[in-house]
Amino acid sequence: MMTDDTTQAGRVRMHAGGPEFSSVIWGSMRCEEQFSSVGELADFLRFLLDHGVTTLDTANVYGIPHPYTVEEFLGKAIAEVGRDKFEIVTKAGIQRISPHRTVNRVRHFDFSEKEIRRSVDRSLEKLGIDYADAILLHRPDYLMEPAETAGALDALIAEGKTKHVGVSNFSPSRLKLLTSKLKAPVVTNQVEFSPIHVEPISNGVFDTAMLDGHVPMIWSPIGGGRLMTGDDERVVRIRGVLAEVAKRNGLAGAAEAAIAFVARHPARGVPIIGSGKRERLEGAIQAVNNPLDRQDWYDVLAAYEPSLSI
Ligand SMILES: NC(=O)c1ccc[n+]([C@@H]2O[C@H](COP(=O)([O-])OP(=O)(O)OC[C@H]3O[C@@H](n4cnc5c(N)ncnc54)[C@H](OP(=O)(O)O)[C@@H]3O)[C@@H](O)[C@H]2O)c1
Repeated sequence: MMTDDTTQAGRVRMHAGGPEFSSVIWGSMRCEEQFSSVGELADFLRFLLDHGVTTLDTANVYGIPHPYTVEEFLGKAIAEVGRDKFEIVTKAGIQRISPHRTVNRVRHFDFSEKEIRRSVDRSLEKLGIDYADAILLHRPDYLMEPAETAGALDALIAEGKTKHVGVSNFSPSRLKLLTSKLKAPVVTNQVEFSPIHVEPISNGVFDTAMLDGHVPMIWSPIGGGRLMTGDDERVVRIRGVLAEVAKRNGLAGAAEAAIAFVARHPARGVPIIGSGKRERLEGAIQAVNNPLDRQDWYDVLAAYEPSLSI
């Protein structure tokens, strides 16, 4: 994941039989709030490409204020820049109440073949692309029928609608259940990990990734901004330690130190940066190229929970 040029993202093979992504991924969840026009977003995408950030993360459900609108906005910007310059990851399975999805009475999850197909077809149409580089199951559907869901994912690959498949927010046992029926490899598990959300280091998610040979994608590496703006005691304590760690490592600040913390875990998870600000993307690239040393990493972990580093 390291490159000689610390201003450029590197390349990461997500699985032996999987895709190569950039070592920093950009997440589009907040893009409607961050960019006021397609042209502005397209300029930002060009900036990402100039820095080696070629992988874009999105989802059928993303949209502010109403779910299900981001992919159309993002798709128009991708069309301006060129689809073939990017790896595009999207997700299916979340059902939200929205004027754009009036059949939903309650928030729920749906991994039935019918819904996965409907969602993926809609994503491809809204994004204006013929195929995705990876389709992920977004959040566990507790009513998942493993053979049906696995069959739907394998069929999407066979039909050329996606190059690869993966999951998000899956526990190790749920992943095993799915892979017991799936022919294609799961190329990633996209999970939350940050100095204020450390569960994957101890709940088996990262151990399983390393055993299975897939690289996790890391969402909200700075807690969706909460790490920088939160005022509860623990967050303030962690932010203080991160600021010190940033100084020691020549990083821009606490947010960048958080990304360097994430990058240090041997599961080598690839952070998805949700910022729409260029300087924050540059800082994230520098951080990924300079993961923390062992003592700084444990210093941050101890700020989260002292007993974890005793
Ligand atoms: N699979 C899932 O269930 C799941 C869930 C959530 C997200 N995701 C994916 O992960 C991506 C990243 O998630 P995220 O946006 O929550 O990630 P994040 O990078 O932790 O948070 C980004 C947010 O933090 C703010 N921020 C960044 N640096 C800051 C600083 N120094 N001071 C104050 N605020 C700062 C950004 O604002 P600015 O724009 O102003 O910098 C933005 O609002 C999403 O876009 C999505 O693709 C996946």
